[in-house]
Amino acid sequence: MKTIIEPFRIKSVEPLRFTSRSERTQILQAAGYNLFNIHADDVLIDLLTDSGTSAMSARQWGGMIEGDESYAGSRSYHQLEEKVTELTGFRHLIPTHQGRAAEKILFNIVGGQGKIIPNNTHFDTTRANIEVSGAEAVDLLPPAGFDPVAVDAFKGNMDLEAFEALLSKHGAERIPITMLTVTNNSNAGQPVSMENIRRAAEISHRHNIPFFLDACRFAENAYFIKLREPGYQKITVREIAAEMFSYADGCTMSGKKDGLVNMGGFLALNDEELARQARNILVVTEGFPTYGGLAGHDLQAFAIGLDEVLEEDYLKYRIRSVTYLGEHLTELGVPVFQPPGGHAIYIDAGAFLPHIPARQFPGQSLACELYLCGGIRSCEIGSVMFGKTDPTTGDFAPARLEMVRLAIPRRVYTKSHIDYVIECIGDVYRRRNEISGIRIVQEPPILRHFTARFSPL
Ligand code: F0G
Repeated sequence: MKTIIEPFRIKSVEPLRFTSRSERTQILQAAGYNLFNIHADDVLIDLLTDSGTSAMSARQWGGMIEGDESYAGSRSYHQLEEKVTELTGFRHLIPTHQGRAAEKILFNIVGGQGKIIPNNTHFDTTRANIEVSGAEAVDLLPPAGFDPVAVDAFKGNMDLEAFEALLSKHGAERIPITMLTVTNNSNAGQPVSMENIRRAAEISHRHNIPFFLDACRFAENAYFIKLREPGYQKITVREIAAEMFSYADGCTMSGKKDGLVNMGGFLALNDEELARQARNILVVTEGFPTYGGLAGHDLQAFAIGLDEVLEEDYLKYRIRSVTYLGEHLTELGVPVFQPPGGHAIYIDAGAFLPHIPARQFPGQSLACELYLCGGIRSCEIGSVMFGKTDPTTGDFAPARLEMVRLAIPRRVYTKSHIDYVIECIGDVYRRRNEISGIRIVQEPPILRHFTARFSPL
């Protein structure tokens, strides 16, 4: 088999700024050992997120010029609507500035005190929007899903027995909607099988509960189905994606992932009454129904992105390049959540730095070390993000896992960038015994990972 190459060539480039280790030591110290506080120009390879960081194609940039900026009835809106209808079959499109704005509108309507919203795993903004509405967000991941070493084709699946149990315990009246996140970002970007989507939808519909997808990474999920689920090998990714959406009554979408755009999102659904209510909120909080939270040129680029993301050469390269990083790290002995996900590799920092206890934040220590070593920016997803310290008793409750996410922006980095990342991580792994923990010196009351300041121990 020949090397799978990037299915594009580069027309416009952005220079990277190289820094020395001693410069990075100063930069990190000034940033309070929090990579969110670092100026992006001081980062060499930015793996903080795959969201809004895609490189757009020449066709998309051309579309930006053609975007129709009309307040009402924009041609660009109609082009996006046509694409979304073709892809999902949903009757109503409600464009928003990004995914969380679609979530806010949806949960404003269906959420509220006493309600329960199940999901395989809620993304943070989804959970936050549900909780702000007064409802409860419930994650239904089977135990194997949490196991970093278990190898299974669809570790992102919802635990359907737990879903049935939730329904019998609380009754369908308390559950206004079921969500399913594809791929499951909060669980290392693991995919969900078609069978799981179909059965989750069946259970939901049997209780007259609408079934929605969080479709941010729908194309990556569809490609995993093609690779791994019996019966789908000869079917196009476009058809697989259409089948995924066919079981759902609607979806929330962040175009910043599989829309291949830097900004954009939507809520799409079938129910007339829900769409009417959503548009009423949209006009107040985002904008007129034919642009929502977006400029005409954003709508136009988004419509093209939804087309390009389903090209099989692109998806083959995309999934293979993320897997390549995971496989090479595994070969070096680096503990990585298995199997590699669709958009990111998650290093098990707890296993990488077993001498650092959770209360000394091994994930944050590792993320800082990757920056010092090679100017690589990653993201701690462990006890800084999800752990809790009781302000009065000082009791510490760690996160379930101590992870560091290496999220890969779409169409941005080449194989040699990734080889460099592998070399740096290999280097840090060989010196792992020299790495020490870190403590928090200043933290805000909520979402502390964004602004907390640290000091090495
Ligand atoms: N749902 C999932 C599964 C996500 O991963 C995200 C964003 C959202 C919803 C919200 O979309 O950012 O457009 O408002 N995830 C980004 C990340 C931020 O880094 O994983 P948004």
